[in-house]
Amino acid sequence: METVVCYHQGFVPNWGQALLPQSGTMAVMDIPRWKERLTHLPLGELHFHPEVGSTNLEAEKLIQAGVEPFSLVIADSQTAGRGRQGRTWITRPGQALAFSWILFPEKGRIRPETLGRINGLGALAVAETIQEKYGLQSEIKWPNDVLIEGSKVAGILVEVHWQGCQLMDVILGIGINVGKESIPADPQFNFPATSLEGSAGKEINRLDLLVGLLESLLKWYRRLAEPSLIKAWNEHLAYKNQLVSLNSPNGPLTEGTLQGVEQDGSLILGTSTGEVRHFHSGVIQLRLVDRS
Ligand code: BTN
Repeated sequence: METVVCYHQGFVPNWGQALLPQSGTMAVMDIPRWKERLTHLPLGELHFHPEVGSTNLEAEKLIQAGVEPFSLVIADSQTAGRGRQGRTWITRPGQALAFSWILFPEKGRIRPETLGRINGLGALAVAETIQEKYGLQSEIKWPNDVLIEGSKVAGILVEVHWQGCQLMDVILGIGINVGKESIPADPQFNFPATSLEGSAGKEINRLDLLVGLLESLLKWYRRLAEPSLIKAWNEHLAYKNQLVSLNSPNGPLTEGTLQGVEQDGSLILGTSTGEVRHFHSGVIQLRLVDRS
């Protein structure tokens, strides 16, 4: 008898409401111009919002109502953007990129076995685009953060919906700190943060960045099931061969040497007892262990 294993990604409700200070000086989103610049890309519907709670939530509503694959929800500001582990992701007007990309299982690319690669797909597209466009070197902190010189510049939130054991859809949410004022002064933000403009020392055009990112996302999406995606993810991986700790919301899980990312997107950790263990992202939080 065949055994069916059903993997469900944890979905933690309890999204707090962000308190948003006034925005900076960056240009507002000119929606007709943004739409026009995206027409050459093989995307589905384009949904723009000057302000919204969360683009991932809007994507969920669109899926329920019926939406084309590869549709995009973009917001200039989010008042209740979702981060991992129930955290809020603040998006101040004119300061950041915040969007959600709607994916459906098709042609075998998105399937339960490739779900663990989708964080990598998003993070890799961000890392590749900011390198190619602005010469910024970045690293990917498994599973979903993009770091520049150790500080977080972008986060990825993958939300997956199932009906029983059937994978229905995936929402790939990406948030990037672009302007210097995009960085939240928020006590729950327990990791150092940076912005693209702060790191590059120059102005960044959000529309150019978005176009580059979507091109990269589409390229890596076509390779979602190929070993090249994991190879590129490993090349950008932060803390390789360093001692890291893994924590869950209930407390510390383990410590070990970070060896890399496995073909299914899980983290490979070498423990002090010589064991090699694999961890799937779920609600795991990774930190570098400071032995200094
Ligand atoms: C994290 O690092 O905790 C993930 C942050 C993901 C934020 C993005 S912004 C666009 C999309 N919509 C959301 O509500 N969240 C994601």
